[in-house]
Amino acid sequence: MSSYIIEGGKKLQGETFVSGSKNASLPIMAASVLNRGITKLYNVPNIHDTQMMIEILKSLGCKVKKNQNKVVIDSSNISKFEIPEHLMRQMRSSVIFAGAILGRYGKVIFSYPGGCDIGSRPIDLHLKGFEKLGVTINKSFGKIICETEEIKPTEISLDFPSVGATENIMLASILAKGTTKIINAAMEPEIIDLQNFLNKMGAKIQGAGSNIITIQGVSRLKDVSYNIMPDRIEAGTLLVATAITGGEIKLKKVNINHIIPIIDKLIESGCKIQLREHEIDIKAPKRLKAVDIKTMPYPGFPTDMQSIIAAMLCIANGTSVIVENIFENRYKYLTELQKMGAKVKIEGKTAIIKGCKKLYGTKVQATDLRGGASLLLAGLAAKGTTNVENIEYILRGYENLNDKLNNLGAEIYLIKS
Ligand code: UD1
Repeated sequence: MSSYIIEGGKKLQGETFVSGSKNASLPIMAASVLNRGITKLYNVPNIHDTQMMIEILKSLGCKVKKNQNKVVIDSSNISKFEIPEHLMRQMRSSVIFAGAILGRYGKVIFSYPGGCDIGSRPIDLHLKGFEKLGVTINKSFGKIICETEEIKPTEISLDFPSVGATENIMLASILAKGTTKIINAAMEPEIIDLQNFLNKMGAKIQGAGSNIITIQGVSRLKDVSYNIMPDRIEAGTLLVATAITGGEIKLKKVNINHIIPIIDKLIESGCKIQLREHEIDIKAPKRLKAVDIKTMPYPGFPTDMQSIIAAMLCIANGTSVIVENIFENRYKYLTELQKMGAKVKIEGKTAIIKGCKKLYGTKVQATDLRGGASLLLAGLAAKGTTNVENIEYILRGYENLNDKLNNLGAEIYLIKS
């Protein structure tokens, strides 16, 4: 169990940049299975979750080479269509391999995926989507066996715009004979990145970024090189880290269009923001103001930023109300923030945060990826020393976060064990 020791009270200052997107890299890496050739990916964040995707690719028979942020995948000779259970348990995104393997072979065996404990996180929408595409699904001893002679293109209307289900249906249908339409599709930027990647690989998909995606099946794909988009949640995390410490930074390599709801909330809380094409300057006010947050599917305020911004609201002037509309159990980290002096009340999917002047360093436990990052940020602002334990959660999703923050003047020590 590794931990971060944070000496709080240092204002962040200087320049940093945003790494490649975790949530775009993971489905794109899974999608490489569909290409019976070479996929070269650039700007892939060097984190635990992308490493796990590489392990799954290798277990399927792909040859994978990684050099810093470049990953080269040779999927010409895949020999298996079963995803090993111990790798499925490591992360939620392992489930996206199901669509890719189905699309290539018409058969896949997998088990229920693991991932952060932020709610029940079923995969019923993924499986309903596969069934609509003519796939027969059998469940036996925790394994899910999906099989079809041929994927049958159709129209699929999702009950909820699930990011993962949208991605899985896209991947399962790109090699089908005919046109598949996803209605009420997720509109997240990562879906656009997946579409752009697949089209560069020879697929014919349009509509990503809107709520209707049309996939015209093609008979073959081709070798591809692709540069992954910047991580919008990391961008938001670095901006909020600056705000919570009363700092002032320049953030580079950012896609501003992806983070408008985050920028708007930072402005509402009193931060001065200047936008350039791929850069943001942020200057925190003397005292942040309380703001209300409601998480929504994109283009609403992202659920992955809910815990991050909550850390900031704990020391803002006034009372903030957060409503979490996506996941039913995403407030565990608030109990840890209370140990640092935060004044918080949870009522169902609403959290009420009464801002206080200071948080105080103590020992806290990361309970999930973004909740863990929220504790790290609280530690940056707190008086004294904060010890965040269980940071494996944070290392899953952020590339060199402690190094980036230390380069901006933070004092964070990574204790590996
Ligand atoms: C993705 C992101 C995650 C983000 C989430 C919502 C990745 C790797 N992860 O997760 O960081 O927090 O989108 O923006 O991209 N649901 C069902 N049945 C299903 C699928 C989902 O009920 O079959 C529910 C979930 O329980 C949740 C909601 O739909 O309440 C949203 O889930 P979904 O959009 O699928 O999130 P993920 O793809 O898992």
